[in-house]
Amino acid sequence: MEPSVIPPLTSNLTVPAETSEPELIERPALVGTTWVKNIWYYALPSDHVKKGKTVSMNVLGDLILIGRKSDGSIFAMRDICPHQGAPLSFGDFDGKEVACPFHGWKFNSEGICTDIPALCSDQQVNVCKIRTRSYPCREADGNIWLYYGEPRADMPEIPRAQGLDGLKYDQTVSRVIVPTHMDYAVVALIDPAHVPYVHKSWWWRNSKALKEKKKHYVPAGTGWTMVKHSPSKGSLIFKLLGDFMETEIAFRLPGCRTEYITLFGRTLVASMTTVTPIDENNSELNHTSYWTVPGLKWLLKPIVNAIADEFLGQDLRIAQRQQIGLKFKPKLTMIVKDSGLPGSWYFQGKREWNNATEEGRPFVNPIKEKVLRWMT
Ligand code: FES
Ligand SMILES: [Fe+2]
Repeated sequence: MEPSVIPPLTSNLTVPAETSEPELIERPALVGTTWVKNIWYYALPSDHVKKGKTVSMNVLGDLILIGRKSDGSIFAMRDICPHQGAPLSFGDFDGKEVACPFHGWKFNSEGICTDIPALCSDQQVNVCKIRTRSYPCREADGNIWLYYGEPRADMPEIPRAQGLDGLKYDQTVSRVIVPTHMDYAVVALIDPAHVPYVHKSWWWRNSKALKEKKKHYVPAGTGWTMVKHSPSKGSLIFKLLGDFMETEIAFRLPGCRTEYITLFGRTLVASMTTVTPIDENNSELNHTSYWTVPGLKWLLKPIVNAIADEFLGQDLRIAQRQQIGLKFKPKLTMIVKDSGLPGSWYFQGKREWNNATEEGRPFVNPIKEKVLRWMT
């Protein structure tokens, strides 16, 4: 299913007629499609697809089968048989080819049909003309990514987890499905102003102690990086250790927020949170946590999962509540001054990505270096 051309946020926004600081109150959206094409989207952790097995996923407006062949390589194709529509994932996979559960048609890892068992030996059919759509896929930082769009020689880079170069690490992933369009999920992901209200935990922070924050942003890749700084002391953890820590946060299209925290200059933990559209009304959030303390996986994995699940659960709850209001298609004033600017940059980035890929030219980052201030 191709997503139809609906810029979902455009019609809902109040756009101030004039402003002395136009870059701070920006009409978002103006995007050509509901989610950007010709780019990599997060799919799932590598270890969820074992050798000789396949996994079926409903993402990117499609049903997609991701498999790992006996030689360890991965592949992805539309999980819908072009004969009569049965999902191929219900069939057998021999480590090389998938057989449809309905009439046994076989498909190789490129989605090309290799056999139609019902044909008699004298019934010649050029079966390799029959195919199901294949999706380029790759592994990076322990995760599988899917390419959505027209494959090309110069594929863009996959967003990478930061701060882990040369370090050994363990990792775990938490996932949640939010009932909102990808744009809302991304805007929430990079919105600093929701943190004290949505992410309240006794061990983290509450909304009572709002303080002014000043963060230095620079354009980077297809997004931006918030220059390395000491974490603010709003939470118990950073009150205790904050003087010896630094953190760097970054965002890259299509919806990837990375963060890492160093203690005495060495990365202690890192994370990557991604948004992948399921369809126009639902999105997946995947939060991969990495830690570089060796040998403690048995202890740290459940703790890290519990923390990530709590944060994602808080994001899910507010997304569900936001949906109650959005059903009425209200006019929104989403982007107000500095705390809303990352949201505006996201829409500017999407628009530029679409224009650049349509015009066949390199992406030119529309973001300008800037110090943003807000109360959180
Ligand atoms: S539906 Fe797949 S072989 Fe018939
Ligand atoms: Fe959040």
